[in-house]
Amino acid sequence: MANLVRAKISALGTYVPPRLLTNADLEKMVETSNEWILERTGIRQRHIVDKGVATSHLAVEASKKALAERGISATDVEAIFLGTVTPDMMFPATACLVQDKLGAKGAWGFDISAACSGFVYALQTGAKFVESGAHKKVLVIGADVMSSIIDYTDRATCVIFGDGAGAVLIEPADNGNCLIDFIHEVDGSGGCSLNMPAGGSLNPASHETLDKKMHYVHQDGQAVFKYAVRKMAEVSEKVLQRNGFTGKDVNLFVPHQANKRIIMSSADRLGLKEDRIIINIDEYGNTTAGTIPLALDSARQQGRLKKGDLVLIASVGAGFTVGAALLRWAY
Ligand code: UT7
Repeated sequence: MANLVRAKISALGTYVPPRLLTNADLEKMVETSNEWILERTGIRQRHIVDKGVATSHLAVEASKKALAERGISATDVEAIFLGTVTPDMMFPATACLVQDKLGAKGAWGFDISAACSGFVYALQTGAKFVESGAHKKVLVIGADVMSSIIDYTDRATCVIFGDGAGAVLIEPADNGNCLIDFIHEVDGSGGCSLNMPAGGSLNPASHETLDKKMHYVHQDGQAVFKYAVRKMAEVSEKVLQRNGFTGKDVNLFVPHQANKRIIMSSADRLGLKEDRIIINIDEYGNTTAGTIPLALDSARQQGRLKKGDLVLIASVGAGFTVGAALLRWAY
């Protein structure tokens, strides 16, 4: 059924902490090499927070930029949906902390735990509240401080992740430059392939969980890789097809930045050449829920995101969670 009201992204802001962790730095910390990291992942550096800086801080900075771009104040925001797997604390939700720090007095909100698909899940949630007529100004945020849950003695995971955040404002659209369609999937059988086993109700924090390093990211890299390669392309093809498009119509493919090889293989299957793909994993690493808004911002800075462009977003994350969004850039 066609929606009576369509929703659009009307502003975008991003933030990464200034401190860099380069491949050369990692060479001094674990048995790895710049060559291995570049060849296997495409990453050159990541941004990492200083002690005491949390996900809400990055989210607030990104949100302030989005609001400034649109020229509105925080009190105009009606709802905040924030994708993250590294909340400041177990509760309250980081969305509540952001609401307070931003001064978004009238806004309600919650966190969405969908790992690397967190931003796309939050984007659809925001879009639906606008399309239903419930809200006219929704802030959608993807933010993670992955360095807070990484074991910097584990070379298999510490080279991949970085910290970062992005925020977009969702408002009603008055023409076809809008959020067109979404597809989301979950395959919970993949939960064991990528997780942080302790700190929740199953394995509450104890000396034993600390000794066993259960408060860090655990990943079966190859299992995640295989699933991501298959699903990123599958869900992208599906959302294009059901809206009457093919890869040829896509002006910009904005994939989750987990591994350059995953991105290139998905793009290849969609028939997309490098000039229509945004890859900034070299600069930021995998910032989990932050990658897609950061990639949109990179595209914009490179002059590769114009009003009316057909943009395809795709993500795969821990869960497994899968997301795709199709939109026409609105400004
Ligand atoms: O965003 C959420 C989802 N996450 C992902 O999408 C991640 C998906 N997975 C991946 O990106 C890749 O699997 C990794 C980058 C994590 C690993 O790359 P890989 O090509 O799958 O490597 P591998 O795990 O098969 O390991 C190959 C070799 C192993 O050595 P042996 O057993 O062949 O001697 C590893 O021990 O590479 C070794 N290795 C490393 N060597 C140098 C693993 N990590 C490193 C490292 N530096 N950092």
